[in-house]
Amino acid sequence: MKVVVVKNYNEISFQAAQLITDQIINKKNSVLGLATGSTPIGVYQELIRKFQKGELDFSKVVTFNLDEYYGLSPEHPQSYHFFMWNILFKHINLKKENIHLLNGITENIAKECKQYEDLIQKSGGIDLQILGIGDNGHIGFNEPDISLDTRTHLVNLTAKTIRANSRFFNNAQEVPKQAITMGIGTIMQAKKIILLANGKRKARVVERTINGPITTKVPATVLQLHNDVTIIVDQEAAFQFASQQ
Ligand code: GLP
Repeated sequence: MKVVVVKNYNEISFQAAQLITDQIINKKNSVLGLATGSTPIGVYQELIRKFQKGELDFSKVVTFNLDEYYGLSPEHPQSYHFFMWNILFKHINLKKENIHLLNGITENIAKECKQYEDLIQKSGGIDLQILGIGDNGHIGFNEPDISLDTRTHLVNLTAKTIRANSRFFNNAQEVPKQAITMGIGTIMQAKKIILLANGKRKARVVERTINGPITTKVPATVLQLHNDVTIIVDQEAAFQFASQQ
């Protein structure tokens, strides 16, 4: 794992956007795995800025989002569909047919998951996967104790995740109790992975992800087994990790 500690959130966004830019410049038809949550918002803003300046062309880029709340329609303001279109997609020149998001209101979950996996394989696999990290170490919505080889599937969200994500809803009751997510197996097949974390709140889980024993109790620790992972953290999130160096 390569760990890059930068000064602040802006610097995380800047560095991650640069890695994504390099990826797209090297391979115009790159397949990107995208994350939601508050952490990558700055990266997406930076990508939009680069696009507007003419430094980036997304016309051949293909994207797959990590996850979606089960039960939320694409029009729901808290759905990851809605988030991605507002925060990134509507501002850049990705082709609609190259954007892939899981359907949170599918009537056939097994089919939806299988189709998503097939599409990823058909696109040649994910070249670069962006990840945030949940307070409990989840990546995508792979909650603790999930098995290591899972593919896209339906998960039950933990009480901790529901509580953490309730900040985006009116109250915890409104947070869906389930989600569809790429599995750890899907994520681990990405050729490169960039994990982002900022702020004190993530310090403990960042430390465990980097130094902790590999355990499904902290799903992100599995990334230690991948051969091309870059973790970009600010000084606050690196606090516990750095204090052990
Ligand atoms: C959600 C998403 C994760 C994300 C996590 C952290 O649960 N499913 O992909 O990494 O939130 O969110 P934040 O970046 O807001 O801390």
